[in-house]
This record gives sequence, structure tokens and C-alpha cells, in this order.
Amino acid sequence: MEHLEKQIDETRQGEALVLEQTSGTKKMYLESYGCQMNFSDSEIVASILKDQGFSTTKDFHEADVIFVNTCAIRDNAEQRVRNRLNEFKIAKRKNPDLVVGVLGCMAERLKEKFLDEEKIVDIVVGPDAYRDLPNLISKVEGGQKAINVILSKEETYADITPVRLDNTGVTAFISIMRGCDNMCAFCVVPFTRGRERSRDPQSIVAEARDVFEKGYREVTLLGQNVDSYLWAGGGLKKEILTDEQRAAATSFAQLLEMVALVSPELRVRFSTSHPKDMNDDVLHVMAKYENICKYIHLPVQSGSSRMLELMNRGYTREWYMERIEAIRRILPDAGISADIITGFCTETEEDHQETMSLMKWVGYDFSYMFAYSERPKTLAERKYEDDVPEETKKRRLAEVIELQHDLSEIKVKAAVGKVHRVLIEHESKKSDAMWMGRNTQNMVLVFPKGDLKPGQYVNVFAKECTKTTLIGEVVN
Ligand code: 5AD
Ligand code: SF4
Repeated sequence: MEHLEKQIDETRQGEALVLEQTSGTKKMYLESYGCQMNFSDSEIVASILKDQGFSTTKDFHEADVIFVNTCAIRDNAEQRVRNRLNEFKIAKRKNPDLVVGVLGCMAERLKEKFLDEEKIVDIVVGPDAYRDLPNLISKVEGGQKAINVILSKEETYADITPVRLDNTGVTAFISIMRGCDNMCAFCVVPFTRGRERSRDPQSIVAEARDVFEKGYREVTLLGQNVDSYLWAGGGLKKEILTDEQRAAATSFAQLLEMVALVSPELRVRFSTSHPKDMNDDVLHVMAKYENICKYIHLPVQSGSSRMLELMNRGYTREWYMERIEAIRRILPDAGISADIITGFCTETEEDHQETMSLMKWVGYDFSYMFAYSERPKTLAERKYEDDVPEETKKRRLAEVIELQHDLSEIKVKAAVGKVHRVLIEHESKKSDAMWMGRNTQNMVLVFPKGDLKPGQYVNVFAKECTKTTLIGEVVN
């Protein structure tokens, strides 16, 4: 899942975001870890529980129910959740009626083992079972432990209107599909999120229209592999389509266009693209609509074709480079970012150098970089030896991070002296006199507030920069 690992603003995978929405009598505290999809799922959970009379609180000491929406992508993400559960023990000691539930990928991975291993946990719910939450909560209130980790081939929560929990009111996530069929050798996601399924495009467009009418000005369409989105009608599985049905089905490029047409004032972003599936149709639609942001997150994972083969990624270094050339040809100014893993099984110094050289060749604006972490059940765990020593993984990781810092700095510096169209998102974290927003390439700009408000578009002249951020002033 290439995910989707991404940006709730400056929030990164593995960091927590506490969500709040008021009204209702029973209080729930909801904390999310991991990818954007998890944050989006938490908004579904909040919606389901709001209908049951729950409101949310930012203080877990006040809560009747604590939910932790968990991530299983790397071992350290799981450790963070376990540490957090330890902290909740004190609250449970004070209030024995407190219900503690774990949701999401780690819940799906560990299933009933979670109940054995972490005595504090009362409820375990996988990503496709959130509709069952009211029932599971009442079971716990009746004195039992409760679990539902059934994965679905159909569930998309299409009819549930998410409760928007990030309070800025400018940017919203819309989940367009769930699950992943790719089976990258390192990745636990196919086991925790199940089979890939696409959501009805009409419900996606309706959701985009609804948030636009509520004042939002940016939507990010979410899926583990958005290029593989395909809707042929309810219940029709992608694998069994006739040629005719396939030709009549809605592709990701078509969906993107439908969402772009909601309003020219609504920016559209998406995540995540897959190099093996990203086609030129998507790039042409991006070029056609000003409001589709010129930014592509295209995880490469490694620059070595030998590694890519072992990783079961479905493309080579050369194929990936050709896809980058297509982006540069069709969208010359696009921002490009990647995910990179260091120290995957058998990775040599030469493989690592190939990753470094590819990073330089692309000149990524940004990357999310990780040391390989072996995950239970994955192809790599079953078939390969995790043979790169931890210090080597870490050293290579430090090298790619350092290189990426240099590459990002080059990009940011090149953007100084230019005027950028920016959507104002919220106050800058560093100064309450400044707004923060992004340009179409996803670069962050800060500038004096003036009389402006979040949700407005402004032209900002970039006067100077830090290593990652442009500092500017509004011009007409
Ligand atoms: N170890 C390290 N990184 C991983 N990712 C996925 N699985 C693992 C793993 N086992 C990274 C990939 C993916 C991103 C979401 O997380 O780079 O694109
Ligand atoms: Fe992404 Fe591959 Fe994992 Fe699917 S299996 S979520 S494509 S990394």
C-alpha cells in the first residue's frame, strides 16, 4: 500500500492523529495510526458510532470507549500501538467500565491473539467489519470480549457519509477502493485489507460534491493502487468481465475526470499510483484539468531490477524510468515522490547504489523511506531470508534519506522567485501570523495571513525557503 502512507499534512505513517467531533452522550476517543486510508476509515467508524449516539473527545480520560485504528505495515508501527495500549491501562484501572477496541490492520493480522496478548483489549475489529461495531460494543457491555475480523469481497462503505474529523474543513479524503491484489513480497496489506474492490463512481462523485458544497476545496482519492480502479456495476468482479463489460466499465482516468468536473474550484489529488498500472490516460486527464493537482506519488521501492523482481513488483528499473519519462512528457511541471525500502532480502551494495542512482535520475521532490521490516505471512517471510544486517539496512536508509534531503532542497530552491497558486489550508505550525498552503506540486508555502481565510486560493510569490518550505507573500 503504497499507500497511502501519506500526508495528512505533516502526519506520517505511524504517527497518531487524534480525532474530535462533538455532539452525542457516550464519548469515544479515536486515535489513528498509519496510512491515509486508516484516517479515512476512522471517519467511517465515527459516522457509524455517531448514529449510535456517540460523540468524540480529544481526552481519553473522559472516554467511555477508546478505539485505536492500527497499522501493521512495519514492526515499529505495531510496537507503537502496544506502547499506547500500555498507557491506556491506567485509564482502565480508574474506570473498569472503559471499553478498549483495536481496529484496522493490526487487529486483522493478530485476530483473537490480540485478546490473549493484550488483556486490556475488549474488542478486535478488522477493516471490513466496522458496520458490526454497535453490535460488538453491546456484546462487551454485556460482559464478553468481542471480535469480528471477517474480510469482505464487496464492502466499500459506499453508503456511509464519513464524519470529517480533521477540523480544518478544507481538504478531505475520499476512499475509492479497498484492499490490494498485488502481493508485493514484503507487504502485509493484502492479508490485512483483503481483496481489491472498487467503489461505485456515482457515490464517489456524490461525496466529492457534498464536501465541496460544505466548503471543502480539495479532495484526495484514496486507494492502495488507484490505477487498478475499475467499476463495472455492483457485484461484477474485475476478473470475470467480458471484453464488452470491461470496455464499458469506469476506469480510474474516467473517475478522475468525473471528480474534476464537480467544480473547477475543487482541487483533486490521488494516492497511490502503481508503476506497473499507471497509464497515459490518467496523465492526459491530469493535463486537461487545471484543478487536478500536478503531483504523482509513484513508489519505486528499489532501483534494482533484480530487487524489483524479488519484491514481485511487476516492473523493472527501465519500465519505471519510461513511466517517469511519460510523466515529464505529458506533465512537464509535475511533482513526483516515491516510497523506498532499504535492505530488502539479499540486497547488495550494488543494488543499493542502483536505488541511489535512480533517485538522482528522477530527482524526486519527496520520498518516504523505510528499512525493510519482515512481516508475517508475506511471500518474503515464507520464502526468503531476511539476511541484510540491521545496521546495513539502517546505514543504507540514512544514505537515501540524506540524498533525498539534497534532492528536495534543489526542488524547493528552484521554486523560489516564482508565483505559486496556493490553496490556504490552515495556520502555519511555526507562526500564528502565517497561513500554510500547498501549490499544485504539493510543495508547502507559508505566508502572512492578511485578510485571507482557509479555503481561499491565492497567488503567492516565493521569496525565500527553508530546506522544505517556501516562504512568500501574496500577490495579485
Ligand atoms: N518493510 C518496510 N517498508 C514497507 N513498506 C511496505 N511494507 C514494508 C515492509 N515490510 C513500505 C513500502 C510501501 C509503503 C507504504 O510502506 O514502501 O510503499
Ligand atoms: Fe502497495 Fe504492493 Fe502492499 Fe499492495 S501489496 S499495498 S501494491 S506495497
